[in-house]
Amino acid sequence: MQSVDVPVGLLGYGTVGAAVARLLAEQGDEIERATGHRLRIARALVRDPAKERSFEPEPGVLTTEPGDVLDDPSLRLVAEVMGGVEPAGSYVGALLASGRSVVTANKQLVARRGAELFATAASSGAQLRFEASVCAAIPVIKALREALVVTNVHRVLGIVNGTTNFILSAMDEGRSYDDALAEAQRLGYAEADPTDDVTGLDAAAKIAILATVAFGSRVPLDWVEATGIEAVRREHVEAARALDMRLKLLARATLAGERVDVRVGPALVDVHHPLATVEGPFNAVMLQGDAIREITLEGPGAGGVETASAVIADLVSIVGTTGTGFLQNDPVWRELERMPPGDLASPWYLRLRVDDRAGVLARLAHELAAEDVSVARLVQQPADGEALLHVVTHEAPAGRVEAALASIRGLPEWRGEASALPVVSERGVDGFR
Ligand code: NAP
Ligand code: HSE
Repeated sequence: MQSVDVPVGLLGYGTVGAAVARLLAEQGDEIERATGHRLRIARALVRDPAKERSFEPEPGVLTTEPGDVLDDPSLRLVAEVMGGVEPAGSYVGALLASGRSVVTANKQLVARRGAELFATAASSGAQLRFEASVCAAIPVIKALREALVVTNVHRVLGIVNGTTNFILSAMDEGRSYDDALAEAQRLGYAEADPTDDVTGLDAAAKIAILATVAFGSRVPLDWVEATGIEAVRREHVEAARALDMRLKLLARATLAGERVDVRVGPALVDVHHPLATVEGPFNAVMLQGDAIREITLEGPGAGGVETASAVIADLVSIVGTTGTGFLQNDPVWRELERMPPGDLASPWYLRLRVDDRAGVLARLAHELAAEDVSVARLVQQPADGEALLHVVTHEAPAGRVEAALASIRGLPEWRGEASALPVVSERGVDGFR
């Protein structure tokens, strides 16, 4: 059988783009055997063609002129691996409007402009695929949209940012935050501006996408309550260890009735929980649903080649299958409401610094009891003449815990620290929170 030559355009030829080019060159025979198509990078848009590349393209492939990709009718398939919302969004919109299919690794673009771009794709008959935008090599979008389509997934819990997991793992081994971040940047895990990683914005975009796909309802990015790891210090990591837990940046989406809660933030994970052992740039996503009970997918969550494998899988799906891509059937989506953030129930870890004298514990217990927050564990640690209390509560709504902390901050015995992090300790569809 004669193989079909498929010229592919790239928007971007950096960490991911160069790895896409490398894999297509090295795995071309396998792709051809599987699909009957030979994919080759014909044009790639960059800012600076003189830059050194991890995989050198053929002469004449790199261009700084967007029209060389956007206006070339021979490029029916384009991968957007440049990042940023603009100009990437306009480029992707123009390609889709002209009927050309696009694969993107850009989670900010999908989370912020997905509704508009999928509508454009649906009306022109083009496909927009985005597996690489969430958890790099882990095929979680495909699993949710195809394999798990009738399982009524109601909870997604995951470590979805490789850079922050790499930093927290390194801090757990005694390394500094700054060193670990610099290494994550050098290894190509971090975003061009790592602020998105460390503030939780990257994970927020990913959990918005996962919730949208899992719950079949558009979950906008501004519904995600996001906190990053900038305030995490070695002592937080050590405190987690002392309680037989690990500190992780967790993304969580919960569907309760017709209401959705989506959040990202540091959390304490029991050492026996599957997410506690996810280390370095690895990601993991735990999906819970009626028919499946629980499925955990784990794998590389960042890195050039790891992400390129997902980009290429989407390219291959487009050339190797017929019909339009998924997520384009807008009319059948359901409307869900946002759950008020204070309603989400969880066990909590409280870190309280107070005077070390008789009666203080009773005052704290009173404030917690006033909000119906019940203590499960308490460890007291001396701290420069004061007391550092590590409290683990039974399950309580976030709003009540915050109200108790506000009262504690008003006590004369309070000495400057009163914070709460969610705790993930159990697993299983009924017991897991
Ligand atoms: P990168 O190394 O910074 O590469 C970006 C590429 O896009 C570069 O080739 C750059 O050109 C080009 N570019 C950026 N803005 C441009 C503009 N305005 N005009 C023309 N060219 C432009 O980034 P990356 O790590 O490959 O990430 C790319 C995308 O993949 C992002 O959306 C990111 O979130 C996503 N992603 C990355 C990873 C990862 O582990 N790195 C994993 C999953 C998803 P120059 O080379 O000339 O500067
Ligand atoms: N910067 C991202 C991360 C890349 O560290 O997870 C993968 O999306």
